[in-house]
Amino acid sequence: MTGRELLALTAVGKTYGSVRALQDVSLTLREGEISCVLGDNGAGKSTLIKIIAGLHQHDEGSYTIAGEEVRLGSPRQALDRGIATVYQDLAVVPLMPVWRNFFLGSERGRFRLDTAAMRATTREALLRMGIDLHDVDQPIGTLSGGQRQCVAIARAVHFGAKVLILDEPTAALGVKQSGVVLKYVTAARDAGLGVVLITHNPHHAYLVGDHFTLLKRGRMAGSHPRAEIGLEQLTTEMAGGSDLAELSHELARTDPKERPPQ
Ligand SMILES: Nc1ncnc2c1ncn2[C@@H]1O[C@H](COP(=O)(O)OP(=O)(O)OP(=O)(O)O)[C@@H](O)[C@H]1O
Ligand SMILES: [Mg+2]
Repeated sequence: MTGRELLALTAVGKTYGSVRALQDVSLTLREGEISCVLGDNGAGKSTLIKIIAGLHQHDEGSYTIAGEEVRLGSPRQALDRGIATVYQDLAVVPLMPVWRNFFLGSERGRFRLDTAAMRATTREALLRMGIDLHDVDQPIGTLSGGQRQCVAIARAVHFGAKVLILDEPTAALGVKQSGVVLKYVTAARDAGLGVVLITHNPHHAYLVGDHFTLLKRGRMAGSHPRAEIGLEQLTTEMAGGSDLAELSHELARTDPKERPPQ
């Protein structure tokens, strides 16, 4: 099996006002493991990672990091415990050079004023992940969405993250770029990190995942180690009980004459 336990959620729940966004969700992440969380819009995926990342707090169940129960008060506290999160929109400053972006929020210690060293470090860290960027002075906004995800992954690895959380890293990408991002996800795993990969896409999940958790309307609808589930079953579980079948039935049935006037 894989390495030591990095984090564990047990029967976690979260309510926003009157919305029960999560209920009774459990998940364990180990070193060198990619754990995929799948689910439709509103299933609770982002809520789950916001709890792990320290952005929100759970109000039921327990959350432990390396065996110690925690209730994180901020993303900084998560980061200090080695949990790095890459959000889908990445919140980058488009005109900022790649190397500055790489050090954003980490401009402490010996690199603080040494911009030449920061450039060199960025170049080397990207190369170690197999990203050959000729010019680290180019604005981050000139990179493709996939390249930006890759830079964010390389940065988390470089700054010593133990856990990498990715919220839909391939959602806005084409096939080829998705493949590149998934390659760096596996590179992070090979570096010993635990990765939580959030996705809508069972194909992407199955290419890299060691474990699959399905969320439906805030509840766990399935939790399978790779050995116990095939791509076909995963896809069926994702689609099963979704409103898609119902919707297609409804759309097919609607007679144009019966549609309300525009
Ligand atoms: N800050 C909030 N305040 C109130 N309700 C919220 C808040 N955040 C999420 N919710 C609700 O919680 C539920 C789960 O939302 P969440 O964003 O976790 O889903 P998701 O699986 O990430 O969906 P998507 O695929 O669309 O990103 C939804 O019903 C959503 O409306
Ligand atoms: Mg979301």
